[in-house]
Amino acid sequence: MIVGVPREIKVDERRVSLTPAGAAAFTTHRHRVIVETDAGSGSGFSDADYREAGARIVHKAAEAWSRADMVLKVKEPQPPEYHLMRPGLMLFTYLHLAADPRLTRELLRRRVTALGYETIQLEDQSLPLLAPMSEVAGRLAIQAGAWCLQSRSGGRGVLLSGASGVRPGRVAVLGGGIAGANAARVAAGVGAQVTILDINPTRLRYLSDMLGAGVNTVMSNRATLEEEITKSDLVIGAVLVPGARAPRLISAKTVSRMLPGAAIVDLSIDQGGVAETSRPTTHTTPTFVRSNVVHYCVTNMPAMVPHTSTYALTNATLSYALEIADRGVLEAGAHSSAIRLGLNTYDGKVVHPAVADSIRVKPHSPWDHAARPALRAAATVRSE
Ligand SMILES: NC(=O)c1ccc[n+]([C@@H]2O[C@H](COP(=O)([O-])OP(=O)(O)OC[C@H]3O[C@@H](n4cnc5c(N)ncnc54)[C@H](O)[C@@H]3O)[C@@H](O)[C@H]2O)c1
Repeated sequence: MIVGVPREIKVDERRVSLTPAGAAAFTTHRHRVIVETDAGSGSGFSDADYREAGARIVHKAAEAWSRADMVLKVKEPQPPEYHLMRPGLMLFTYLHLAADPRLTRELLRRRVTALGYETIQLEDQSLPLLAPMSEVAGRLAIQAGAWCLQSRSGGRGVLLSGASGVRPGRVAVLGGGIAGANAARVAAGVGAQVTILDINPTRLRYLSDMLGAGVNTVMSNRATLEEEITKSDLVIGAVLVPGARAPRLISAKTVSRMLPGAAIVDLSIDQGGVAETSRPTTHTTPTFVRSNVVHYCVTNMPAMVPHTSTYALTNATLSYALEIADRGVLEAGAHSSAIRLGLNTYDGKVVHPAVADSIRVKPHSPWDHAARPALRAAATVRSE
């Protein structure tokens, strides 16, 4: 199979979908890799690094797309990339189609076999290709929050670690999932006084065991939220209700009662945000101040640290991408329920139920008994 790695064109996106080590793994499996020139430069990988790994460098995005059987990307195709998608092309990337009917329709019209990183799901319901970015974003949230608290950012001038004889900053983390647990760990690591709130008692017990005495775990309810939010220097929003908008845990009234110059880093902004006062921001202008509280609401925080994020992402995606390249999507899906759930569109039809729901069509599974022989033949790919 020929695997194409185009340069990401979304604003501020410097990650790349494959490291040179990943390219070497594909060549070891007897696939060929073509990489658009400079695709890895934002993550610290040169064209020479990819050449050394056995990849071929091409100079135009169109070549990386048109010569590939499978295109690996980080972000969903952008409108200027739509015309590069052709029938039968396999695309493996973050898609978030349930929120993007325009892209769904393009993938259907162009009969692309599209797999979304975010819908690959294991039997325990976990999302292994979303988790690494939540981990990165959670850890970054404390760096971003520390910056927001500096007086030049409009913050209250608090150093999270405190100083000898001066008490440390107080941090409340709302949601103790992957992002929240990582934020709490980093905050405790710099010496802040940390409380993590969640509605799941089993998760709180696990966090208490894992994070130890340096982090307080508290059951999340209206009273505990109000108390922690209004006493903290920094509040991290990291809740998720799968498939739904983030719950509004911080009302505008509560924001107005927070400490003057306190900060909210609202990671959940990609699902609408936990604070009534939040609105999406970009890396160019990441913050705004409302009711004397600094809000940081960047929707794609991992793009800020592309080197680390690229490694974290490709560590997670590579084994799935290799499996799909080695077996073809239908056979790989027949052996792996995670890959089956990853398939969003196939041959002009929507496969994933949530995506089908979003455009009000019926999902269609290529693994249905009747459809299988014809689809299996259609899935045959070049192997060189
Ligand atoms: N902004 C970014 O760049 C960025 C990057 C990665 C992830 N995220 C976002 O971070 C959020 C968290 O992601 P995750 O992977 O940690 O999710 P997760 O599913 O691992 O954890 C979410 C946690 O929220 C808890 N929760 C749900 N409702 C709650 C409530 N009312 N009060 C307290 N806790 C509640 C759940 O019990 C769960 O433990 C998501 O919205 C995700 O999209 C943002």
